[in-house]
Amino acid sequence: MSVRVLFVCLGNICRSPTAEGVFRKLAAEEAAELKLDIDSAGTADYHVGEPPDPRAQAAARQRGVEISGLRARQFEPQDLQRFDYVLAMDRSNLTVIRRAATVDAGKAQVGLFLEFAPEQGMLEVPDPYFGGEAGFDRVLDLIEAASRGLLAHIRERQS
Ligand code: 4NP
Repeated sequence: MSVRVLFVCLGNICRSPTAEGVFRKLAAEEAAELKLDIDSAGTADYHVGEPPDPRAQAAARQRGVEISGLRARQFEPQDLQRFDYVLAMDRSNLTVIRRAATVDAGKAQVGLFLEFAPEQGMLEVPDPYFGGEAGFDRVLDLIEAASRGLLAHIRERQS
C-alpha cells in the first residue's frame, strides 16, 4: 500500500507545488523502495488549472526540480479521505483544512509541513507570492528541510 501525501497552500502555484516537486525528487533519489503518492492543492480557487508561478518554476529548476508540468487544483474535503498526510504550508491553510475535517474527518493526519523540520525554528512557510525572488529560495530551503524530515518519519513508520 502506498503512503499518500498532499501538500496544501493558498494558490497551489508557489509553495505546495514546490513541495510536491521537491518531495517527489527526494523520495525517488533516496527512498525508491517506498511507494508514495504525492500531490498538492490550494485552499483558494484563484489559479485553478494554471502552472506554477514562473518564479517558483525557475527557483526549483535551479535546484534540479522540474515543476512546470503541474497544474493547480483546489483542496476539497474528500482529500481527507484520499490522503494519509495533509500538510499545510501555514496556519491559515491549516484552518481551512481543519474546518473541512469537522464535516468529514477522514483518516488523514493533518498538520503543518514544517513540524517535520523543528530545527528550522519556524512553523509556517512564508507566502512568497507578493515578494521578490529571494522569497522563493527561502521557500525551497524550508521545504527541502521538511521533506527530509517527512521522508525520515515515513521510513520509520514503515519499518
Ligand atoms: P501559494 O502562493 O499559496 O504558495 O501558491 C500564492 C499564490 C497566489 C496568491 C497568494 C499566494 N494570490 O493571492 O493569488
